[in-house]
Amino acid sequence: MILVTGGLGFIGSHTVVELQQQGHEVLIVDDLSNASLSVLDGITAITKSRPKFLQLDLKDKCGVAQMFSKYPEIKGIIHFAASKAVGESMEKPLQYYENNIVPLINLLYELGKKEKSCLIFSSSCTVYGQAMEMPITEEAPVQKALSPYGNTKQMGEDIITDFAKVSTMDAILLRYFNPIGAHETAYIGELPNGVPQNLIPYITQTAVGKRKELSVFGQDYQTPDGTCIRDYIHVVDLAKAHVKALERLLLKKNIEKVECFNIGTGKGTSVLEIIKTFEKTTGVVLNYKIVERREGDVMEAYASTTKANKMLGWKAELSLEEALNSAWMWEKSLNK
Ligand code: WQD
Repeated sequence: MILVTGGLGFIGSHTVVELQQQGHEVLIVDDLSNASLSVLDGITAITKSRPKFLQLDLKDKCGVAQMFSKYPEIKGIIHFAASKAVGESMEKPLQYYENNIVPLINLLYELGKKEKSCLIFSSSCTVYGQAMEMPITEEAPVQKALSPYGNTKQMGEDIITDFAKVSTMDAILLRYFNPIGAHETAYIGELPNGVPQNLIPYITQTAVGKRKELSVFGQDYQTPDGTCIRDYIHVVDLAKAHVKALERLLLKKNIEKVECFNIGTGKGTSVLEIIKTFEKTTGVVLNYKIVERREGDVMEAYASTTKANKMLGWKAELSLEEALNSAWMWEKSLNK
């Protein structure tokens, strides 16, 4: 059995679908603080097999211990559960440190009691800050985090690395670039809380008329069209990377106890290019205006995918157009 924490979230739910479709038995744990139970119906509609579900706050150490005694067959964890809004973490640092670190420690205590176990950790390219060289490799230096959110990802990686040295747990750290899009069925997708912080949900909500216009945060960067460049990866490709990473550990193919992979497409796309591609793909004209830069944004970030290709046997396959179109189909399904 594979425990998926935060399994009703955006990336978690898409990963549960791919796990089930590869024959894995899944237990989802979610505290429903940033997800709804309806996502479980969406997953079931896709895979025709309802995953086991437990509502639990992973900060509750006893609750976590009880879960592991109830499900001794848990052999691996994919740990998504965390707060993830960069801006919000600046205003609520203590909540971010508590919610993103305490659950990880509670989970590691339980994994440490097992003969053998594996952990896939949801990390982020945020740990690189503004990397000096593009594409960004896993050897790029981790820079001082610009936000408590980014710091919790760096701390999480360090805690896992230190614990793996003294336990029978092996781990893989996946550093995501920018996950976008939705499942082709439009049964699951991104459900931002309130005003979307991220570019793609803001675009689709503007396109559907929920937002008046998109603000483009700065057009004076040293990039070809002046707007920031990111590596936008289809969430289904990202989900498949988790299954590959998990199976690498289950089959004991890992070379080191803790391995780290950048998960992106290897291609950089600017904000204005995203807007143009969205308009071309969907036929919708987007209302937008250029405004001031957003504090904390890096100018450019896109992944070197060589290590993930070679060692995970994984490569992003879905196009940017497919990702943007699926995000649009999902947005329309929410506003039916
Ligand atoms: C992308 C680009 C913005 C919104 C963050 C986190 C990262 C991960 C993904 C959790 C930037 C521009 C955005 C808008 C805009 N989160 N933008 N108008 O900041 O690259 O990454 O989300 O794991 O850790 O750092 O993603 O989608 O917020 O921004 O112009 O309304 O779009 O300036 O250049 P980001 P994003």
